Amino acid sequence: MRAAFASAFDADNPLATLTVGDRPEPTHPDPDWVTVRVRASSLNHHDLWSLRGVGLTGDQLPMILGCDAVGTDPDGNEVVIYPVVPTPGDPRGVSILSEHFPGTFAERVAVPRMNLLPLPAGLSATDAACLPTAWLTAWRMLTTKGRVADGESVLVQGAGGGVATAAVALGVALGKRVYATSRDAAKRERIAELGATALEPGARLPERVDVVIETVGAATFDHSLKSAAPMARIVVSGATSGHEPKINLRRVFAMQLEILGTSMGSPDELTELLAFCAEHAVRPVVDSVVPFSRIEEGFARLASGEVFGKVVIDHTA
Ligand SMILES: NC(=O)c1ccc[n+]([C@@H]2O[C@H](COP(=O)([O-])OP(=O)(O)OC[C@H]3O[C@@H](n4cnc5c(N)ncnc54)[C@H](OP(=O)(O)O)[C@@H]3O)[C@@H](O)[C@H]2O)c1
Repeated sequence: MRAAFASAFDADNPLATLTVGDRPEPTHPDPDWVTVRVRASSLNHHDLWSLRGVGLTGDQLPMILGCDAVGTDPDGNEVVIYPVVPTPGDPRGVSILSEHFPGTFAERVAVPRMNLLPLPAGLSATDAACLPTAWLTAWRMLTTKGRVADGESVLVQGAGGGVATAAVALGVALGKRVYATSRDAAKRERIAELGATALEPGARLPERVDVVIETVGAATFDHSLKSAAPMARIVVSGATSGHEPKINLRRVFAMQLEILGTSMGSPDELTELLAFCAEHAVRPVVDSVVPFSRIEEGFARLASGEVFGKVVIDHTA
């Protein structure tokens, strides 16, 4: 079957190691696994990290990339795939599709049956394919981890990213005051259209916020600390610009800040998110939809840093 996979690693030029070609049909490591025919998938920064060799080792190559997908199960049901799978031997006890088990950028993918959730009525396959990684991460950052409450405010750093646009759209839909930074004036304009107050990176906010959504890391972390209200929660799920920021500990204890790490979310949280989007007419911010036959173009777009929202892959085209 046709698939997009990492055939080597290149820390500086990840696109050079992306290969599109034939891979064997999925196998089932356990009788509870099923094969899903993929209809739509979406790209995440995770896919670029994999091509750079972050989170994968050479003996795992070639590895089919892709965490997110919507597809058709063996009984003909339309399903959303929850991408976190039990993985004995991994220190986390789990892994995300494309880390230990082949990912979703293929005609077919194998997953445990319990990882299949029904595609809610009213959500298209391309919209729902954006939700299982970036949107789920943002949902958990705001709710379970950030505990964003009535009347509270949120700062989202690096607002053009997949997680960040999700956090803005969900924060606004939850009725919060949302501030968002982006380096790019055009992205600031678009983030304002989503209902956030858009700011340049490092700008002074009109108020200190209760929850900070951090995926940028080193480039924005000091600003996140300075923008946090007493008792605020700074929730970290990524570090695109560097993972070793300088941290002013005096501010952390004096303001009684909580710095919380998080990864993905639970199946229940994905179910909640799907229902929330369907019921509140919240739709993912889609940067572009690229046919599977031209998936390399989607990768190039993500790597360019110019994306606003999610790059979706249409496997039916
Ligand atoms: N832990 C998890 O479960 C999980 C899940 C999803 C993602 N992540 C992580 O979260 C991060 C974002 O992922 P994504 O898929 O949303 O990525 P993405 O769509 O590629 O977004 C990256 C965003 O970061 C901002 N950025 C990049 N370099 C920057 C710099 N030097 N200074 C300031 N801003 C910078 C940019 O925002 P502007 O251009 O607007 O400034 C860019 O739009 C990645 O590190 C990813 O690995 C983690």
